[in-house]
Amino acid sequence: MTCTPILFSPLDLPNGTRLKNRIVKSAMSDALGNGRGDPTAAQARLYRLWAEGGVAASIIGEVQGDARFAEAPGNLVLGEHSDTGAFAALSQAGHMGGTLLWFQLGHAGALTPPTIGTPKGPSALELPGLRAQAMSLPEVRALPARFAATARHAERLGASGVQIHAAHGFLLSQFLSPLFNRRGDSYGGGIANRMRLLLDIVEAVRATIRPTTALSVKLNASDQVDGGLAPMDALEVVAALDRTGIDMIDISGGTYFPGAKAASDRPASGPYFLEFAATARRRTRLPLMATGGFRQRQEAEDAIRDGTLDAIGLARALVLDPGLPSQWQAGGADPDWPRFAASPPGGVTAWFTQRMAALAANGDAGPNLTPEETLCHEQKRHAALSRIWRARFCQSACRR
Ligand SMILES: Cc1cc2nc3c(=O)[nH]c(=O)nc-3n(C[C@H](O)[C@H](O)[C@H](O)COP(=O)(O)O)c2cc1C
Repeated sequence: MTCTPILFSPLDLPNGTRLKNRIVKSAMSDALGNGRGDPTAAQARLYRLWAEGGVAASIIGEVQGDARFAEAPGNLVLGEHSDTGAFAALSQAGHMGGTLLWFQLGHAGALTPPTIGTPKGPSALELPGLRAQAMSLPEVRALPARFAATARHAERLGASGVQIHAAHGFLLSQFLSPLFNRRGDSYGGGIANRMRLLLDIVEAVRATIRPTTALSVKLNASDQVDGGLAPMDALEVVAALDRTGIDMIDISGGTYFPGAKAASDRPASGPYFLEFAATARRRTRLPLMATGGFRQRQEAEDAIRDGTLDAIGLARALVLDPGLPSQWQAGGADPDWPRFAASPPGGVTAWFTQRMAALAANGDAGPNLTPEETLCHEQKRHAALSRIWRARFCQSACRR
């Protein structure tokens, strides 16, 4: 008799999608698009590395349906204009060996960089380094159809699943947050109103995509900022999502708002959201995944074995070692985690972004820079891509 370790047993999602094991490459904005919203050959190579490394599914972070509200100029943008050949190459590479490739549908809202778009959120914001306009009611009401159309493009362009990004301080997370959502209409106020837009989007997307296309939502357990989305309200969102047709909830936390701490910038000192996941379990029958802090095979296995989670999301560990799932299955070592003495805000995330670029270019780790050095390097890369983006997408709306 052969015994499959629980981490490598398959998982069947409600729509019939089968994950070949319990390890998912969590959404990361890889900054590898060509600045015109299309994938590059380097990006396809990176997703092939992850597929060959044995993950059950890879989620491409921050794929946009509306270029005016992108998170970064390396994002993919889906539409009639998309380069079908480049997307086919990406899809083929990412689906190698039975791995699934999902697109995370984003909208940066108030966090849209003004150099490439128009920051707009649930409510107007005037903070140091952050100004945003409030979305009008017709603009909010147009979003479900827009997300649904983007999800259809995702299917057409080769995604086997989509994830709606409602975490980390971007648009749908801004709507969920009492701190950023001060609306007086039916999208603001109590949590039932603040989650209305997310639920409308979920319903529109589910009604539009094929039943065989997996649908997931990434949700914050907590924004981890004073006055932001708190666990009690997040649990209400979990209970409401349970009544929809989604296939998985991916639990995360933190936000990229200036001054707050983002999950990707924190030290990975063990899984972050297990306590919330255990409580969420009592509010939903949906499969639960959590992303954040996993470094060791034992931690991942324990979370599946004790029933807290159905799948483990790994982001930075798979940048350190894209072959980690196969390595773990063969009884190999945990990844060697870098230690940074000190790092400016965003420095650790930039360090991992630069690592992805090196992996995509040559399959190796690239130069060993400090977080400060990589932040500087990434800012230059961002500026160069922004120039291409503006020429492609901005008429007069973007600030130079
Ligand atoms: C370079 C980088 C880019 C990221 N981009 C995204 C993104 O586009 N969407 C998202 O939901 N999370 C994004 N994240 C957050 C990760 O998905 C994950 O939630 C976080 O890194 C914590 O997980 P980890 O400890 O396994 O790295 C990003 C993380 C990193 C390091």
